[in-house]
Amino acid sequence: MIQLLLQILLLPLLFTRTDATFRFASYYGDHMVLQQKPSQAVVWGFGEVGAMVTVTLLRGMDTISKTAVIVKGDVGVWKVLLDPMDYGGPYHLIAHQTFKQEITSIHLDDVLFGDVWLCGGQSNMEMTVSQIFNASKELELASQYPYVRLFTASLVTSDIELLDLAKVDLEWSIPTRKNLGNGDFTYFSAVCWIFGRHLAQKLKYPIGLVESVWGGTPVEAWSSKTALSNCGLSESSKEKIQSRFEVTDTATGPCQYTVLWNAMIHPLLNMTIKGAIWYQGEANTGLNTHLYNCTFPTLIQDWRRSFHEGSLGQTDPNFPFGFVQLSTFMKTQPHDNYPEIRWHQTADYGYAPNPKMPNTFMAVAMDLGDDDSPYGCVHPRDKHTVAYRLYLGAQAIAYGDQSVPFQGPFPETIDVYYNYSYMNITYNEELLINHTCGQIFEVFCSVGININGESHYAWVPAPAKSPSSKVVTVLFKGCSHISAVRYAWYDWPCEYKKCPIYGIHSRLPAPLFIKYFK
Ligand SMILES: *[C@@H]1O[C@H](CO)[C@@H](O)[C@H](O)[C@H]1NC(C)=O
Ligand SMILES: *[C@@H]1O[C@H](CO)[C@@H](O)[C@H](O)[C@H]1NC(C)=O
Ligand SMILES: *[C@@H]1O[C@H](CO)[C@@H](O)[C@H](O)[C@H]1NC(C)=O
Ligand SMILES: *[C@@H]1O[C@H](CO)[C@@H](O)[C@H](O)[C@H]1NC(C)=O
Ligand SMILES: *[C@@H]1O[C@H](CO)[C@@H](O)[C@H](O)[C@H]1NC(C)=O
Ligand SMILES: *[C@@H]1O[C@H](CO)[C@@H](O)[C@H](O)[C@H]1NC(C)=O
Repeated sequence: MIQLLLQILLLPLLFTRTDATFRFASYYGDHMVLQQKPSQAVVWGFGEVGAMVTVTLLRGMDTISKTAVIVKGDVGVWKVLLDPMDYGGPYHLIAHQTFKQEITSIHLDDVLFGDVWLCGGQSNMEMTVSQIFNASKELELASQYPYVRLFTASLVTSDIELLDLAKVDLEWSIPTRKNLGNGDFTYFSAVCWIFGRHLAQKLKYPIGLVESVWGGTPVEAWSSKTALSNCGLSESSKEKIQSRFEVTDTATGPCQYTVLWNAMIHPLLNMTIKGAIWYQGEANTGLNTHLYNCTFPTLIQDWRRSFHEGSLGQTDPNFPFGFVQLSTFMKTQPHDNYPEIRWHQTADYGYAPNPKMPNTFMAVAMDLGDDDSPYGCVHPRDKHTVAYRLYLGAQAIAYGDQSVPFQGPFPETIDVYYNYSYMNITYNEELLINHTCGQIFEVFCSVGININGESHYAWVPAPAKSPSSKVVTVLFKGCSHISAVRYAWYDWPCEYKKCPIYGIHSRLPAPLFIKYFK
């Protein structure tokens, strides 16, 4: 009898709760972080076309804001902007739908406001906390950061731009040992997590981390059609993929143009975010390598424009974008295209930000090689250092702390003295130099005359010394002429944390460079 009564009472409730047409989009959930002020967070979902949806934000019993909209479009979408909110929480968010006199409601619990960061790229971003050096110590930290929240999109491809994620691997969650180290290359991304927990510790407010990553994928898969056409790429111009590392990396991920943009980025455009970090490029050492100086900077511009539009103008159209300059691959059989991709990652400037890539920051990783990695040598296990270097860049670029050094030393001037057979390379800061690595500079040297009577050039190692704290003198005895100089232009330029040049104060490695002379 009581049971029957309960059933009758619960019936309407059960009915409304199984009403699948009225729901939040896939990436709204309990424990989530919404973007704080000055931006306004977007909240959207699906409903009955023509219905009225009211979204109420509550703190305890207090109503903080209330917004009403009509469900529109063929599929029935509703979308509201919340008022700009200070960081903090927890809040409760309720959405009511009124359709043909019937009211249904859905809600989100434990919603926080803070900064939302998107983490993208391939397997080095995908490596989980359980796969890295000092994993057990890192996993223990999970409980110390209850205000860092995690979300991971599933691996899905699509030929058309999707409105919402087709699947979610990790719903918004509070960090635990389990979800930080779920398994190899699943969730949660070690680089994303360590970056996020450093931010949370520094900023003392909630950080939301959204992982949308797939191992072994080229930049073309993550780019929209518009972005690709900007670099002269279209389906018809598609090159055959010639991956050199089927075993360890590339073969595992989809390489078709735009398929991951369509399924794993386009749906996220409607969320307000603070910024993005990115660790990708290995797959492009075998695909359109020479175009990466266009495809990567264009992806950044295109994502910025698209996130701005998709969030109704709430995501900054110039949002901070951090990236990892590729680490190393093969020590014994070096891969020529690694230095080229590293250079192209900076739009051929060598550093970031730069005129073609404003508001970006770069973590150099060529000194973090790990030949013995059980996950393959393309997957170094030191993710602490690389995430920390990204965090330094975020402090300077995303949070405007000018006092944080985040770039390694870079040449300011290069003066060639033929009469002395040397050049003086003057860096922009004081250097910490290891003089024992003499072979890391090379000059493009005229080594003789070829059969047509023209000068014949070749790259030859050039000994270097440092006569003062900012100057490196590179000798080129035996070259009647030189037309270029380069530094660290190797797949594997140095041993772990032992590159020849670091900043004396920043302790950050000097990135590679190549300079052509007129
Ligand atoms: C990109 O690099 C290639 C060489 O790999 C060069 O020919 C081209 O001019 C560069 N393009 C841009 C836009 O810098
Ligand atoms: C999300 O933003 C994209 C890009 O502006 C747009 O095409 C799409 O319709 C938006 N989706 C929703 C649900 O507003
Ligand atoms: C791992 O922990 C040890 C001991 O605290 C430390 O010396 C080392 O630098 C850590 N390694 C990384 C990659 O963080
Ligand atoms: C070599 O060239 C530099 C710069 O052009 C000049 O300052 C210097 O006096 C020259 N030295 C000799 C020995 O000619
Ligand atoms: C200097 O470089 C050499 C060669 O890579 C290395 O064996 C040595 O340990 C380095 N010294 C320091 C102080 O890093
Ligand atoms: C090259 O730099 C060193 C160190 O600053 C300096 O002593 C030397 O005079 C420079 N050479 C020339 C030709 O200016």
